[in-house]
Amino acid sequence: EMTPEEIAFQTRIDRGEKIEPKEWMPEGYRKMLVRQIGQHAHSEIVGQLPEGNWITRAPTLERKAILLAKVQDEAGHGLYLYCAVETLGISRDELMERLHSGDMKYSSIFNYPTLTWADMGAVGWLVDGAAIINQVPLQRTSFGPYGRAMIRICKEESFHQRQGYAIMMKMAAGTPEQKRMAQDALNRLWYPTLMMFGPSDKDSVHSAQSMAWKIKMNTNDELRQKFVDQTVPQAELIGLTVPDPNLKWNEEKGGYDFSEPDWNEFYDVLAGNGPCNKDRLGARVKAWEDGAWFREALVAHADKKAARPYA
Ligand code: ACO
Repeated sequence: EMTPEEIAFQTRIDRGEKIEPKEWMPEGYRKMLVRQIGQHAHSEIVGQLPEGNWITRAPTLERKAILLAKVQDEAGHGLYLYCAVETLGISRDELMERLHSGDMKYSSIFNYPTLTWADMGAVGWLVDGAAIINQVPLQRTSFGPYGRAMIRICKEESFHQRQGYAIMMKMAAGTPEQKRMAQDALNRLWYPTLMMFGPSDKDSVHSAQSMAWKIKMNTNDELRQKFVDQTVPQAELIGLTVPDPNLKWNEEKGGYDFSEPDWNEFYDVLAGNGPCNKDRLGARVKAWEDGAWFREALVAHADKKAARPYA
């Protein structure tokens, strides 16, 4: 049932060739990429909000400078990714419109609040840690502009992950109160982080087609398992406890057995009912509206310059 063009396309994918923007691609491939890269870009931008929340309250000047740089990096990631989506023939204005109307998603994790300074540690350690595990394989994704954006993004994410872990390490070795804050941040963010990898494989709508096209390189459950296996020893090293009574090393599979997150909560957050959905989207819509005068001025200036005759 595949057309000759589609068969030739799949052969290129199977050979490991990269697909570039001006080359022929099936409409479904283009749509899958717009959806995934677009959501990814939106996640980077919305993801600035929970950490931006703590810039003014960082405990030292050094921590403030580090956090500021990290949050700026996330803006950069969003911009590379929007550029990658634009090569697929959709404008940035349309992507924004689709985010603001609730038609396009962003990662569920950013709908949870950041309540204490320890959350800056836990977000860097867990959320950016999960992002790296998800994104390292995407460096080999079949669409050229997406894979290339991932190379730089992963380098920066690994700095982000380490700065988060360094905060956790410091707090876990601090006063009993500080250690309690670190443990509390881990308790609250553990399951929402596991949800970042998406629903279990049996409920993942897009995985099969996305993996056949090498847009996704691994299933959701594979990457979730990898995250747990990597993160549990890191928690143990600094004397924190992963909040899962069923967590147990399984010699046979060479990985941990662990509890699934509450999938009802996951779908509820996706439906817009997480603790911060309204705040997050509200903040993005307000930023867009507040920036309208600036976008108009930029266009007016560009038009004036273009109309000016050369001397
Ligand atoms: N948050 C919000 N939506 C999600 C999440 C999540 N954590 N996980 C899955 N979904 C959505 C999917 O987008 C899809 O909805 P849609 O059809 O309306 O787009 C639906 O749930 C079903 O899930 P899947 O079929 O498994 O979707 P998919 O194959 O796209 O896998 C995944 C989801 C793993 C997130 C994939 O899109 C991906 O790898 N994206 C790139 C990485 C990324 O976006 N990271 C953002 C967070 S990390 C960061 O930026 C700091």
